[in-house]
Amino acid sequence: MSIIYDAKENIFHLQTAHTSYVLGVLRGKYLLHLYYGGRISEYHNIEENLPVHAGCTWSATDIEEFNYCTDTLPMEYPCYGSADLRTPAFHAEYESGSALTCPEYVGHRIIKGKKPLPGLPATYVESEQEAETLEITLRDPLTGLELVLSYSVFAEYDVIAKSVRAVNKGSELINIKSILSSTTYLFDKNFEFVHLEGGWGRERHIQKKPLINGSMSVDSKRVSSSHYHSPFLALARPWTTENQGEVYGLSLVYSGNFIAQADTNHQDIVRVNMGINPFGFNWRLEPGEEFQAPEVILTYSDTGFGTMSRNYHRLYRNRLCRGKYRDQERPVLINNWEATYFHFNEEKILEIAKKAKSVGVELMVLDDGWFGKRNTDNCSLGDWTSNREKLPGGVEGLADKVSALGMKFGLWFEPEMVSKDSELYRKHPDWCIHAEGRKRTESRNQLVLDLTRKEVRDYIVEAVSNVLGSAPISYVKWDMNRNITEIGSAGLPGERQQELPHRYILGIYEVLERITAAFPDVLFEGCSGGGGRFDPGMLYYFPQYWTSDDSDAIERLYIQHGTSMVMPACTMGAHVSAVPNHQLHRTTPLKTRGHVAMMGQFGYELDLNSLSEEEIETVKAQISQYKAIRRTVHYGEMYRLCSPFEGRSTAWEYVSPEGNQVVLMYCTIRAMVLTGLTRIRFEGLEPEAQYKDTESGKVYGGDYLMKVGLYMADDRDFESRLIVLERLSAPTP
Ligand code: DGJ
Repeated sequence: MSIIYDAKENIFHLQTAHTSYVLGVLRGKYLLHLYYGGRISEYHNIEENLPVHAGCTWSATDIEEFNYCTDTLPMEYPCYGSADLRTPAFHAEYESGSALTCPEYVGHRIIKGKKPLPGLPATYVESEQEAETLEITLRDPLTGLELVLSYSVFAEYDVIAKSVRAVNKGSELINIKSILSSTTYLFDKNFEFVHLEGGWGRERHIQKKPLINGSMSVDSKRVSSSHYHSPFLALARPWTTENQGEVYGLSLVYSGNFIAQADTNHQDIVRVNMGINPFGFNWRLEPGEEFQAPEVILTYSDTGFGTMSRNYHRLYRNRLCRGKYRDQERPVLINNWEATYFHFNEEKILEIAKKAKSVGVELMVLDDGWFGKRNTDNCSLGDWTSNREKLPGGVEGLADKVSALGMKFGLWFEPEMVSKDSELYRKHPDWCIHAEGRKRTESRNQLVLDLTRKEVRDYIVEAVSNVLGSAPISYVKWDMNRNITEIGSAGLPGERQQELPHRYILGIYEVLERITAAFPDVLFEGCSGGGGRFDPGMLYYFPQYWTSDDSDAIERLYIQHGTSMVMPACTMGAHVSAVPNHQLHRTTPLKTRGHVAMMGQFGYELDLNSLSEEEIETVKAQISQYKAIRRTVHYGEMYRLCSPFEGRSTAWEYVSPEGNQVVLMYCTIRAMVLTGLTRIRFEGLEPEAQYKDTESGKVYGGDYLMKVGLYMADDRDFESRLIVLERLSAPTP
């Protein structure tokens, strides 16, 4: 049993394998957050450890005695409307003109398993035994608003999924201005705010800053989780490393505007909020209607960031990603984008495919430029029919020819967009997001289709389905190359215009659900100018994502390292590209480019015909090595042994699910004279077992590898090493 309810003390104790989350109802109505952290066996007496109202302060108290005040109590779901004047999770305006909400605990239920969230991506169970869910209902007696707080405990995964549903059981219209998904507390402020910051081509770099008294937050107002910030936050003790120290992780399963915030008050109590960004949000909830907020996945580790990440990796790999490819090894691909950009024809693509086939590549992906009259990025988005000048037999003809080579065929789309120069825009100029009388700002010469409108969603589903149904297409790269400006919809009434950001996200989720359900055998890879919108919400539809448009191996060390804070290796698209690199003009060895790309969904993005015979032999060897380790990298446990953000090198280790194969990738970023060696200690091995280096044949004890370690040569910039160990049976005692 992972949820224990103590009816006498009105305490809920949620337990996972290594954590406890405790809630209590004070005076029969105030739902309080009492504890989250390492697992404890029992929690008694709600009032034992509550922050008292610090004597004479300027805040009022709304609890019937002087001791407590909602302004300092750890209110589990803080609503604006009481004496609590910290940042609320919930804020609404009522028809009466009032903006006050004061809900009280009215009941709860505990159910087996976990229910889906209507219209939203979410973690799921495959059997009722995998999770238990607590639903607590709060009710505002004056307005009839009910807030149903849901806590699904995945005990074995050491995570709790939290979400909130608002139900208008009153008779007034409610304008919801803020409905965050999770509020939790830290009872001292000696933590660092750890988040993932970036930009195009430089996604998800790790940043850490000590908490301040006041507010710290990251957010997005771009109607996309964005390149700039991720819907993720960790609060970690200042000395936390990969394998030591306390860390709380919060990850929002949502792809639109979000906020992740830590508010530290004068008593050093930290309120941690996460959910849809209240900025630019408004939702009209009519009597009888419900609003479902997305879920936040919480995890806690007292063994550092490594455990936190592995908790996320396991859950997201197994119970967020879906479909046939969730558990299958994915094909090695070649993508023509950096090889040809828009300048290709059928012959050129077939030349690339033939060479790729000869070295062991399994999937040929045709990127942008195959449709309408698209020879540059200023036209044709929306017109999803083959460009017959480039592809005389259309996509169907090319797909057949690639299939005949014994390869799978994949295709690029950017279905959420429209070019001004397109048949679609000429026919439906009002189908793009725009505000009457305002400029339609273009980005990469394109506008965004208004996915709040049913006819637009239907058009996208039909257009993409027509192409997918017309040819043997096994893979889709779903791109999305801009953020949304001048919010406005010709399909929504004036009073609902502010609902557009969330309605857009619901719209894209509906479209993706329909298309992925109709084509269950197609492997979908998400993309947004590289790794913009690479968030847990998207993983529900796309089991892999193009991690960044920056394909330089050294930049990828930072990007993949930061991304792995939350995302498992099996979700990260990673390709070997040409040198000098197209984004940075850096030249790195082919071997290093291969090693770094092999730590994700491996592929190539260059013209193999331009490589020398010797390079082609290296490519062949890379592909066969990757095929031998891909299961371990994708479905094993990842250990970050050395961080590019903290030193001059990077080391990542993966242990296969059965523990019988271990892969270590080591890469020097910057060498220095007389510091040419670094000793790397493995993690997660069996101390008693023997491990054989498959290249040198040397045998090492697991304890030796973990305690003594191996020296890595560290004397050449950008040089890498890949070690594959095979576990020999453990010695008999
Ligand atoms: C942006 C993507 O990130 C690239 O990989 C490529 O697909 C281009 N779009 C094509 O326009």
